[in-house]
Amino acid sequence: MVVEVLSSYEAVSDRAFEILATRICTVPGSVLGLATGSTPIGLYQRLAAADLNWSQVKSFNLDEYVGLAPDHPKSYHHFMWTHLFSQVNIPPAHVFIPDADEGGGAFESRIAAAGGIDLQVLGLGTNGHIGFNEPGSRLDSRTRRVALSARTIADNARFFDSVADVPRHALTMGIGTIMQARAILLMACGAGKAAAAAGALEGPVTTDLPASVLQRHAEVHVLLDEAAASQLGSNPPPQ
Ligand code: GLP
Repeated sequence: MVVEVLSSYEAVSDRAFEILATRICTVPGSVLGLATGSTPIGLYQRLAAADLNWSQVKSFNLDEYVGLAPDHPKSYHHFMWTHLFSQVNIPPAHVFIPDADEGGGAFESRIAAAGGIDLQVLGLGTNGHIGFNEPGSRLDSRTRRVALSARTIADNARFFDSVADVPRHALTMGIGTIMQARAILLMACGAGKAAAAAGALEGPVTTDLPASVLQRHAEVHVLLDEAAASQLGSNPPPQ
């Protein structure tokens, strides 16, 4: 695992941009796994502003709420098209976002048909979730419908008018699906992520903190700002 601690959110976004832009330039047919949430917005702004050729790129998103139509302003479909896809030349047929009507098995088949994911971008939940794999998710889980935890519903209420509007379920890539990506880029910023980041990078691998499973992946690059890195070193080494 490569861990870089950078001075700010902007610096994390710059570095993530360098990594993705290099990948897209050197492997024009890259299969990307992309994330939503506030963390990758700076990355997507930079990708949208750059003159990169996305004509052969394929993209698979991590997750989507159940019950929001693709054109709903709070759906992850809408998020991805607004922040990135509408501003680059990716063919719409190369964009794959989980769809509750279609189900997890079909999404897994589409990933397999694309040859697997080359680089998966991940954010980090304050409870250590990746995608919408909440604490307790099996480490070998696949794309499926899940119930959101009370903490995630509260965390994500900031994107909605009220907590009552936050969907209670989502379709998410599983932890096993994520672990099959050939490389992973985990981004976390802000003091609210410090405990989850320390647990993920330095704690035991446990279903209680899903991101901790990334310790078992051979090619993970972690970008943290100083606030998110502030609890690193506080976990005692395993006996
Ligand atoms: C959301 C998404 C995750 C995301 C995480 C962090 O619920 N399902 O994929 O990584 O929470 O979000 P943020 O970047 O806004 O902190």
